[in-house]
Amino acid sequence: MKIFLDTANLESIKKFNDMGLLDGITTNPSLLSKEGGNPKNAMEEITKIIKGDVSLEVVSTEYSGMIKEGKRLREYGDNVVVKVPMTADGLKACKSLSSEGIPVNVTLIFSPNQALLAAKSGAKYVSPFIGRLDDIGQNGMHLIKEIKEIFSNYNFGTEILVASIRHPIHVVDAAKIGADVVTLPPIVLDKMLQHPLTKIGLDNFLADWEKLKQKNPDATI
Ligand code: G3P
Repeated sequence: MKIFLDTANLESIKKFNDMGLLDGITTNPSLLSKEGGNPKNAMEEITKIIKGDVSLEVVSTEYSGMIKEGKRLREYGDNVVVKVPMTADGLKACKSLSSEGIPVNVTLIFSPNQALLAAKSGAKYVSPFIGRLDDIGQNGMHLIKEIKEIFSNYNFGTEILVASIRHPIHVVDAAKIGADVVTLPPIVLDKMLQHPLTKIGLDNFLADWEKLKQKNPDATI
């Protein structure tokens, strides 16, 4: 399973990229807005730091604007995936851009039928938002299961990019289903690194080492 970071925060991107954890990045207008500053600089930097796919989202809502913006976004780098919303114009843009060899991520997917249509339009990725479904009392992970089954039935090449992930259990469940990608807020990736027994175990090792040093001050590794 590929791991993408769902952020436009350069510090977090560098931190996890240096650990070799990142296969790509997803951004959206909200994430760019949260960082402040000029979004162009952020998009330029991110596409330089990350070798894998970087999703950059259009803000136009009609077809010709999406095509123009998609092509402009693609100038940031060959690793740019153009993110379009799951609308009629978005699917038309997906079809055109994909036909020209520009990969597309169709975002704001909330139903299996939306995922099916995005795959038919040639999307490289579909982004189902599971946390937002959980928020309204629906089962987000059930959507991932349904999309996985549908894509497997017809051998669609479109990848399932699980978005709106809120906690580490979402990641485990998505991996068990066989989702292709999870895109994680930095805080979730941080939580995945940690376990209380790891901390306790390390503290004990270091305390025992100190005891040894007291008996034998020349002890070294
Ligand atoms: O890529 C954006 C998506 O992951 C949304 O997450 O937490 O705003 O629902 P959230």
